[in-house]
Amino acid sequence: MSATGIESMKGLKITALLREHEILDRVQSAFRKRELPEEVFYWFPSSVRAWVELCRSREYRNANRALEVLNTAAPSLTERIELAHSICGLGCGEGSKDAVLLQAFKLLPNGPSRYVGADFSQALLELALEEARKQVLYISGFKCDLSNDAHLADVCSAAIDDHHTPVIFTVLGNTLGAFDPQQFPRRLHKHLRWNDWFLCDGEIFSEQTLAGYDNPTNRQFAWGPLTGVGITEADGRLEFSTSSAADGLFAVTKHFLATRDLHLNLGGAAIDIRVGEKLRMSSSIKYASESALLGMVEAGAFKIESRWTSGDGSFVLACARPT
Ligand SMILES: C[S@@+](CC[C@H](N)C(=O)[O-])C[C@H]1O[C@@H](n2cnc3c(N)ncnc32)[C@H](O)[C@@H]1O
Repeated sequence: MSATGIESMKGLKITALLREHEILDRVQSAFRKRELPEEVFYWFPSSVRAWVELCRSREYRNANRALEVLNTAAPSLTERIELAHSICGLGCGEGSKDAVLLQAFKLLPNGPSRYVGADFSQALLELALEEARKQVLYISGFKCDLSNDAHLADVCSAAIDDHHTPVIFTVLGNTLGAFDPQQFPRRLHKHLRWNDWFLCDGEIFSEQTLAGYDNPTNRQFAWGPLTGVGITEADGRLEFSTSSAADGLFAVTKHFLATRDLHLNLGGAAIDIRVGEKLRMSSSIKYASESALLGMVEAGAFKIESRWTSGDGSFVLACARPT
C-alpha cells in the first residue's frame, strides 16, 4: 500500500460514503412518489448493463460525440496541462471518457499517476477503476452522492491528498446536466485550489435532440429501472418529450405510463401502481447554446481556458480553472 492509502493491488479500493440500504430506501421512496431520479438509472443491474451497452453502441450519439471531442482535445490538453498528479472523475460512470484522458496523459513525464473515480453506482465504479488501472498505478473509488456537499468535499480532498501539484477534475458525458449545471460549478469551486483543472462537457439542444433518443439501445436504458422491478412492455409504455427547463437549458423528459394495474415487489416493499398512473423519470438536460454552458461554468467562478466542439457542433468540451 502507498503512503496515501491508495492501493495498486488486485482488489479495488472503494470507499462507500453512501450505503446500499440508503440507496434501497431512496429507490423504494422514488417508486412510491412516482418520480425516478437520475441515480435510479444506474443502480439496478439491468440499468447498469443497459448503460454499458449504450456507451458502447454506435447509435448513442452522446457518448460518440463526447469521445470525439475528448480525442480531438487530448493533444492540446496534454500540452497545456504539463503537470498533474491525479485525474478525478466525478460521476465517472464506466470510465470510458476518463480513460481517453488517462491514456493521453500517460505519455507525459509529469502526468497523473492516480485515478480517483466517484459515482453513485458501485457497479459502474468497479468498471471505471478496472479501466483506469490499465493506465495508472494508483486507483481508488468513492461510492457517493455528489449532490451531498460533505461527499463532494471528501472526494475532492481525497483527490488532492495534500499534494501541491494540480488535480484534473472531470465531469464528462453530459453529466454536468445531471448535477445541476447552475449550482455544481460553484459547489465544486469551494474545494479546488487555484492550480487545479476542471474539464466538463455538454450537449447543445437542437431539433434533432429528441430523435437521438428514439433507438432500441436508448429505450432499453430508459427501461432499465422498470425492468429491474419486473415491469415489461406488456405493462405500459414509455413516452419522451422535450421542454424548456431553466434559463439556457432544455430537458428531454420521459415517463412510463401504466396501461394496467401493477403490483411490484421492490426489495421486500410492496408498491401498487394503478392503470393510467405515470412514473416520471429524471430528465436529460441540454444547453440552449455553447455560451449557455460556458456561462454556467464561468458563473461558478471558473475561467474557461479552452474549448472544443464536435464536428456537428452539438457537443462542447471546456477546460477551465478556478478564478
Ligand atoms: C450520464 S452518466 C455519464 C457517466 C460518465 N461520465 C460517462 O461519460 O460515461 C452520469 C453518471 O453520473 C452518476 N451520477 C448521477 N447522479 C449522481 C450523484 N448524485 N452522485 C454521484 N453520481 C451520480 C451516474 O451514476 C452515472 O454514472
